[in-house]
Amino acid sequence: GITRHYQFDIQLKNITRLCKTKTIVTVNGKFPGPRVTAREGDNLQIKVVNHVSNNISIHWHGIRQLRSGWADGPSYVTQCPIRMGQSYVYNFTVTGQRGTLWWHAHIQWMRATVYGPLIILPKLHQPYPFPKPYKQVPILFGEWFNADPQAVVQQALQTGAGPNASDAHTFNGLPGPLYNCSTKDTYKLMVKPGKTYLLRLINAALNDELFFTIANHTLTVVEADACYVKPFQTNIVLLGPGQTTNVLLKTKPIYPNATFYMLARPYFTGQGTIDNTTVAGILQYQHHTKSSKNLSIIKPSLPPINSTSYAANFTKMFRSLASSTFPANVPKVVDKQYFFAIGLGTNPCPKNQTCQGPTNTTKFAASINNVSFILPNKTSLLQSYFVGKSKNVFMTDFPTAPIIPFNYTGTPPNNTMVSRGTKVVVLKYNTTVELVLQGTSILGIEAHPIHLHGFNFYVVGQGFGNFNPARDPKHYNLVDPVERNTINIPSGGWVAIRFLADNPGVWLMHCHIEIHLSWGLTMAWVVLDGDLPNQKLLPPPSDFPKC
Ligand code: C2O
Repeated sequence: GITRHYQFDIQLKNITRLCKTKTIVTVNGKFPGPRVTAREGDNLQIKVVNHVSNNISIHWHGIRQLRSGWADGPSYVTQCPIRMGQSYVYNFTVTGQRGTLWWHAHIQWMRATVYGPLIILPKLHQPYPFPKPYKQVPILFGEWFNADPQAVVQQALQTGAGPNASDAHTFNGLPGPLYNCSTKDTYKLMVKPGKTYLLRLINAALNDELFFTIANHTLTVVEADACYVKPFQTNIVLLGPGQTTNVLLKTKPIYPNATFYMLARPYFTGQGTIDNTTVAGILQYQHHTKSSKNLSIIKPSLPPINSTSYAANFTKMFRSLASSTFPANVPKVVDKQYFFAIGLGTNPCPKNQTCQGPTNTTKFAASINNVSFILPNKTSLLQSYFVGKSKNVFMTDFPTAPIIPFNYTGTPPNNTMVSRGTKVVVLKYNTTVELVLQGTSILGIEAHPIHLHGFNFYVVGQGFGNFNPARDPKHYNLVDPVERNTINIPSGGWVAIRFLADNPGVWLMHCHIEIHLSWGLTMAWVVLDGDLPNQKLLPPPSDFPKC
């Protein structure tokens, strides 16, 4: 591989959407941010220079960061944030991965405007395992807030209530014609007939899982989270926040007499407010540019907002390619088993405050096994563990199963209060882990897209209701389970994953719905160094930010 250099200048920029102009934080004045492209095996050196008063750090979502955990990016997990006037070079090598990933700010809600595509091409002369596309097109799904996203989360955390919903969904930053005064801000995909396009779909929305479709066109799914899958056809794709999906779009053989809407709209089963509106873009055949006004627009339809059956069936369609070139290396023997009950809960309202949370005297919280995570603020977990071992800012007693098991998807127990803490699970190098993620019904049954840093995992099983350890493991798929970095735990159900802990460092695992992360739905794995020299975390770089 070669070394590729990028510079990210974090700077302010005035942007007008929905008829309002506001100042947002951007990378290089672009919204969405610049595309980063590399090939498998390349070294990336991305210098991030912070010119704004907000602290920042950037996460390379889905990059394994083998032994380079210092470049992973979550603030207070692997690094202290980059302050105004400071810079930091994210230096990492892309090993054993190719496909569509993305990058985003990883501090508070800065990722609302600070995000962009990260495209890893196959090694030179290595073909895709599907027909070579004529063109490839990244499409980022996002959310637009008229208010400052930082103010939205601050208000939610202070009042204890749910956050205000965003004001629009977007394709590559554009809300499209179904929103007020946004017809000129419409994403248009111009195509030629009879060609195959590779659409690199990225859900960068903060809080919304999104259905996506294009009128009168079938999509062939070929990749998820930068892992090839057995191709399958669908009209509607579902992506949780954080997930990426590559689809092939085969255009009509001859010029059609119409243009076509592409739409995205949420899938949501919880309570509270989300932005239940639709972003539209236009798929247009190229010769229509002059006379497109006279063409009819064909509109597709999408499943109802709470279509859990569609969501669950769609999730089940994914299988690893499991070919000789791209095998599925599913761990067959499990060293450690964990059971995590994940969901929303409540915290008591502090005495001197009024809270508008679920019972008026409580605040929303979110937890894994009843622990609602708090980040340190004077150092990062990684520095604390691998540099200053005597000054650990965390405890290693994260509960490996719920303390009091209950009927997770039935009526929740009375006391759903969670405790707050900075707790981790420590794993020896090369441990094989099996983890059951069980959704719970506290405060309503909601889906959770769970993202693991530092690893891909195999999704060996999933189902509705309570996981049954005597019955369900018998049906695990150990042959061609999908490999991902973010998996949707269906509303009212569970998912079982396996991964090999072959990457020393501290790795966050969290719900990629941003408000759930803000409420504490996260934990961290500490993976210890192995004995051999090439099994150890590399030392921190000299420009590593200080708190
Ligand atoms: Cu894409 Cu921890 O995030």
